[in-house]
Amino acid sequence: MAGAQVSALAAVARVYVSRDAAAVALGADETAAALVDASRSSGAGIELVRIGSRGMVWLEPLVEVEVGGKRVGYGPVTAGQVKALLEAGMLQGADHALRLGVVDELPYIARQERLTFARVGVIDPVDLDQYIAHDGYKGLKRALGMTGAQVVQEVTDSGLRGRGGAAFPTGIKWKTVLDQQTDQKFVVCNADEGDSGTFSDRMLMEGDPYCLIEGMTIAGVAVGATQGYIYLRVEYPHAEIALRAAIATAKQRGYLGRDVLGSGKTFELDVRMGAGAYICGEETSLLESLEGKRAEVRFRPPLPAIKGLFGKPTIINNVISLASLPMILERGATFYKDYGMGRSRGTLPIQLAGNIRHGGLVEKAFGVTLRELLYDFGGGSASGRPIRTVQVGGPLGAYIPESQFDTPLDYEAFTAIGALVGHGGIVAFDDTVDMARMARYAMEFCAVESCGKCTPCRIGSTRGVEVLDRIIAGGPERKANLALLEDLCDTMQYGSLCGLGGMTPFPVQSALKHFPEDFSRDR
Ligand SMILES: Cc1cc2nc3c(=O)[nH]c(=O)nc-3n(C[C@H](O)[C@H](O)[C@H](O)COP(=O)(O)O)c2cc1C
Ligand code: SF4
Repeated sequence: MAGAQVSALAAVARVYVSRDAAAVALGADETAAALVDASRSSGAGIELVRIGSRGMVWLEPLVEVEVGGKRVGYGPVTAGQVKALLEAGMLQGADHALRLGVVDELPYIARQERLTFARVGVIDPVDLDQYIAHDGYKGLKRALGMTGAQVVQEVTDSGLRGRGGAAFPTGIKWKTVLDQQTDQKFVVCNADEGDSGTFSDRMLMEGDPYCLIEGMTIAGVAVGATQGYIYLRVEYPHAEIALRAAIATAKQRGYLGRDVLGSGKTFELDVRMGAGAYICGEETSLLESLEGKRAEVRFRPPLPAIKGLFGKPTIINNVISLASLPMILERGATFYKDYGMGRSRGTLPIQLAGNIRHGGLVEKAFGVTLRELLYDFGGGSASGRPIRTVQVGGPLGAYIPESQFDTPLDYEAFTAIGALVGHGGIVAFDDTVDMARMARYAMEFCAVESCGKCTPCRIGSTRGVEVLDRIIAGGPERKANLALLEDLCDTMQYGSLCGLGGMTPFPVQSALKHFPEDFSRDR
């Protein structure tokens, strides 16, 4: 979406408003329209640029005005406030109650390490020239001058681990695909983003779609895959529009297609809409769904890297994993690896959600603590009450109590406390939360979303809801029901075919362990 030239007057102010779905839900389109109307009727010239979101969701609709080469922010700005702001001199960066200061200098932004999200909220997402002007396609150009094995080695050396949840080393997965001798290989992007409290994939695809496209192209040329698919969550219409527009331009300009940048290598890319169930995000059922079948989990082995889409070797990676590649190839493995702690290298786009004052996206190097995220960035709970617990890593993630908020965000540190980092979503709850009901919710979620292939998950989750209902109701059988629940959790954890049934016990058991009082009180 090119910037709309509203007036050709000499002093044209450049104004930025997000087109991200969260900003639009909060009124960004109306604010943008009001800006165009008011500037037109007042004779002020503006060039309106629609961008991705900076990730400060509580400030949306955020209006940024370019003044002296810097962007001054005002927010949240409703459509009704636009006229008064223009009269107060917003286009010149004048003082006002809604003036936030230079956006890049706001502590929420300045304290981040934005590597993967460097361009999100900065450039017009589907303007290829802006992408290129902001270091876009440098990574692919470098990759095209390397052998596939060298690219795979660079990815391995960077220490990148899958951001979809399992944290499997990306380079090792790619090496398996590289080593297969076959007529056809595929690259599949897992953009189903089903975890509760997560939205980094969506923000990246809406705010910087070329970054994902470039990452997938790098993957394709590295392992010899000529076709890529983005399996996109069906509830992401804004991302679909951005991706399709960016793919069309990339094809037109020779960044995709039969002869990528004159290299003689082919990489085609298409978007496929997801089937609308949580299990569609599990990689093997995603492949089933992509083949036009019901999304049901496959037995492993064989791994998708050996026998994946249509039985061919397939790289399947999360959006953020793939979007980290352009920067890794551009700046080198060492640059990326220098961020982070232990075996968790690089950065993670963390999503703050739930009962939190400043919800949004924070990209930080691994090692930042939950407490820093919740208080320094999140500003504490939205309700003003103490934060009692957070669930990290989606609906299958453990509940972490306040006493463990100093745990650094690190895959191994989280494993040590029985938790998971997953896709980096953090959902906060204040002290009014009833943890027995949250445990029940976990079982109910599993019962609703189970693909039905294996018994511990299909039947176990339904029995789990019933047992928890009896525990919540109280009575003399409570102790026996608690023992039964523990037993059931063991069966689900060790007997399920995939992570849905296998990890549902995590929220249940962590709630039982850290908040036993909620399971023993009468309501
Ligand atoms: C029930 C279930 C749901 C999942 N949903 C997603 C999802 O929405 N997005 C995602 O990237 N990975 C999801 N995963 C993880 C994928 O199976 C897989 O590990 C991932 O796509 C691999 O990419 P990565 O190595 O880049 O993380 C899910 C796993 C399970 C068990
Ligand atoms: S654990 Fe649940 S979702 Fe996974 S294969 Fe078994 S029934 Fe399907």
